Amino acid sequence: MKKFLLGTNWKMNKTLADATQYTNDLMPIIEKYPAFDFFIIPSYTHLWKLKELIDTNKSALKLGAQNMHYADSGQFTGEISPVMLKEIGLDIIELGHCERRQYFNETDETVNLKTLAALKHGFIPLICIGEKSEDKNYGVSKEMLAKQLKIALKDVPSDKIGQFWVAYEPVWAIGVNGIPAETPYVKKIHDFLRTVLIELYGPLGKDVPLLFGGSVNINNAKDYAGLENVDGLFIGRSAWEPDLFEEIMVSV
Ligand code: G3P
Repeated sequence: MKKFLLGTNWKMNKTLADATQYTNDLMPIIEKYPAFDFFIIPSYTHLWKLKELIDTNKSALKLGAQNMHYADSGQFTGEISPVMLKEIGLDIIELGHCERRQYFNETDETVNLKTLAALKHGFIPLICIGEKSEDKNYGVSKEMLAKQLKIALKDVPSDKIGQFWVAYEPVWAIGVNGIPAETPYVKKIHDFLRTVLIELYGPLGKDVPLLFGGSVNINNAKDYAGLENVDGLFIGRSAWEPDLFEEIMVSV
């Protein structure tokens, strides 16, 4: 039986000292909740140290990076390659977050290249997709999401099912100005994404973990988590303190 996924993207937050403290505090907490599979996605500069901490404590906490280049090496100043991240021993690579799409020219096509590279190197790509408010207002959310998902998964074979995760994060629901999505809307979209995955992979599409993210908090986590096609929650602000994160664990 697959465990429900609970994880947090720290974005560009926390010093190394904060990150170390957080991880030290979180590891004993997650042991109390064996029904969940937990992950954290810190900044690159924290990864080596946190990996050592997690290994030293024999913790089940999974660790990921917030982005990755698709090339193993090359003339890409400022980028980080899968080979470099593999040396750390990471579990997950987050790809296609809307902030990367909005500010750093991430496209569906680069997300696809990065997904293929991540799988090649044995990482779990955590593929983020989400429609903008204008897509929603024009009634084309499903079309936009199907496009993002299908391009991200181009040439990803069915024997990789279970080795990649998909996070649906409506752009309009993310961050301090985000408006939390209504539960029926999340249900409608997750059910739709499942049909797209089944269209792509047949019945195996049911086994792709589908996470929801965007203003997940103590008031809505349980409702989202109770939906049939929500297999995990991907949380920002409301999980940036271990005690707040634990309140969500309890509520779910
Ligand atoms: O990747 C998760 C993140 O985008 C959600 O952020 O702060 O709206 O929960 P937040």
